[in-house]
Amino acid sequence: MTPYVVRPFEETDREYDDLASLLRVASPGNRPASAHELRQEDQDWPAGYLLQRVMLVSRGDGLAAVGTCYQAYWQEAPFTVHFRFDIHPEQEEAQVLSLLYAGLTRLVAEDGTKVNRLASRARENEIARVQFLLAQGFRETMRSPTSVLRTSAADATFSEQAGRKMGQDGVRILTLNELKADVLDWKPRLRDLRWEILQDVESTDPFSKPTISEFEEMVLNDPALDENAFFVALNAAGDLIGMSNLWRNDPSGNRLDTGLTGVVRSFRRRGIATALKSRTVQYAMSSGAATIETSNEEGSAMYALNLKLGFRPGPAWLDFSKAVTSESN
Ligand SMILES: CC(C)(COP(=O)(O)OP(=O)(O)OC[C@H]1O[C@@H](n2cnc3c(N)ncnc32)[C@H](O)[C@@H]1OP(=O)(O)O)[C@@H](O)C(=O)NCCC(=O)NCCS
Repeated sequence: MTPYVVRPFEETDREYDDLASLLRVASPGNRPASAHELRQEDQDWPAGYLLQRVMLVSRGDGLAAVGTCYQAYWQEAPFTVHFRFDIHPEQEEAQVLSLLYAGLTRLVAEDGTKVNRLASRARENEIARVQFLLAQGFRETMRSPTSVLRTSAADATFSEQAGRKMGQDGVRILTLNELKADVLDWKPRLRDLRWEILQDVESTDPFSKPTISEFEEMVLNDPALDENAFFVALNAAGDLIGMSNLWRNDPSGNRLDTGLTGVVRSFRRRGIATALKSRTVQYAMSSGAATIETSNEEGSAMYALNLKLGFRPGPAWLDFSKAVTSESN
């Protein structure tokens, strides 16, 4: 067995550099990609919400894995703590997972955080993680298949049909850049639109309404935001009624990730989501991206629509949850 040391994360430049290097290999093509972004994200985390890490150091090879525990400030679940595991691909997962899990459990107990539920995620093809979580008493709570659209295989006829239908209803689509120039109070209105849509998104926990500064932190200040890949639908009266965007999480730009897509209830089934998604596809094609990726709860209307638009299913993300008492986790 490899000898490991588990210790708390220290907020030094060296530690952030090591963390960024590990995340780049453990979770390639994802943000945050740099030590600077990681530090910024930590600094912006709202006060009073847990965010801590344990580092698993191998005597021979340096940083082997990182465990992160956090309270999701964007959800109404104050006593739920999330565990996340980032493991170097050359490490033996089963041993590393149990060390990280024990380290995080200790850390949460020492922190004194009141917990009644632990949550974690794994892809269904990450067999060792799924088995580990089940063995710890977690159970699956939600299944969200990933899906991928190859821009070379995208069907442009959808966008023409949807655009025509929308035009007849007086609905228009602006990029975030255009919205900022055209609509004076765009920021609170966009926050409110996103919040209205979020309430209908399938989720393990209800979402909490973000303050303007939380909205800025989660959306507007995200380094993966591209204001020309963010589309907002407005009705004839100028109300904001729908949105969809692509995140530049992959620093190479080869892959773009779909963000929140939604249309307010009173405007659904009129082709507006199709038109918004079509704009994102056109953007991806013109920017030279090869794929758009997303994941949606398997029974959702969004998943049905994505399949209709040509997205092809991949391995699902699985949400897991375990009831605990603060003493027994
Ligand atoms: C999913 C959603 C964006 C669809 O918006 P929309 O503007 O009504 O979608 P469209 O009118 O473009 O629908 C196009 C097609 O998608 C499919 N579709 C849309 N809603 C559906 C539903 N409730 N059930 C099954 N299929 C549905 C249909 O095939 C539909 O074509 P049809 O109306 O000709 O049958 C909307 O229901 C929504 O905002 N939901 C809540 C937010 C959400 O869950 N977003 C996804 C998380 S990112």
